Amino acid sequence: MKRIRYAELTALIGQRQPACGSTTVIALDGPSGSGKTRLADGLAEVTGGDVLHLDDLYPGWQGLEATPPMVRRVLAVVAAMALFSAVPAAAQDSLCKRLGGGDAISTVVKSFLTKMRKDDPDKLGRFWLFRGSGGVAREEQLIVDFVQSATGCDRLYDGRDMRSTHKGMGLSSADWDRTVGLLRATLDEYKVPAELQTEVIDLVGTTRSAIVECEESTFGCP
Ligand code: HEM
Repeated sequence: MKRIRYAELTALIGQRQPACGSTTVIALDGPSGSGKTRLADGLAEVTGGDVLHLDDLYPGWQGLEATPPMVRRVLAVVAAMALFSAVPAAAQDSLCKRLGGGDAISTVVKSFLTKMRKDDPDKLGRFWLFRGSGGVAREEQLIVDFVQSATGCDRLYDGRDMRSTHKGMGLSSADWDRTVGLLRATLDEYKVPAELQTEVIDLVGTTRSAIVECEESTFGCP
């Protein structure tokens, strides 16, 4: 059997797109006693990553079915926290604070989402043509939570991860660019300074690979 060295393995891992916010998650599977813990510890040492042992999550053998939703929630929190840690580690206030706090963020996000919903029905507006107001209000609150949590406000996001949330929506690069355009217009409207706008857009940009399903100039994927 070919032996792979940690350096080769980390190089291979480095080629993968992060799929959990800006974090790359490596899942190790194998029968008991096969060396998963040793490999995980070795990888953690060379990559500086953290190890999450599923043994610490299982509610016992009778509760195995409860594990996938627990893992999903943990990964959603990791994704949101990783976005937050993408803010430069310099000793400065969180992006949340510099944007004016949680309430200011909520106002700006809601205004941005109103623009998305009111967009042309053959562009972004297509997603909200037949949605009930309850579902839309819930989605709006989750997106506010997500952005507050990602920018470092004291808020927990407990919605789904970005990939499964947007899976099958057929979001193209044209959809993405239009969304970023509406976000910029909203930030302009609220007179958010240019350097903070760049930080917000970079932060949102870390979710692109999980959300966009095709690189097309049409709205929607073929
Ligand atoms: C590219 C354009 C985007 C479109 C058209 C879009 C559309 C949608 C739609 C229709 C939903 C409701 C899904 C459902 O009820 O099943 C949703 C949910 C959500 N979106 Fe997006 N989205 C976009 C980009 C983003 C971005 C950039 C973010 C984060 C920065 C984001 C964060 C969320 C969150 C947190 C939810 C709620 C998750 C949950 O239901 O658990 N979306 N989006």
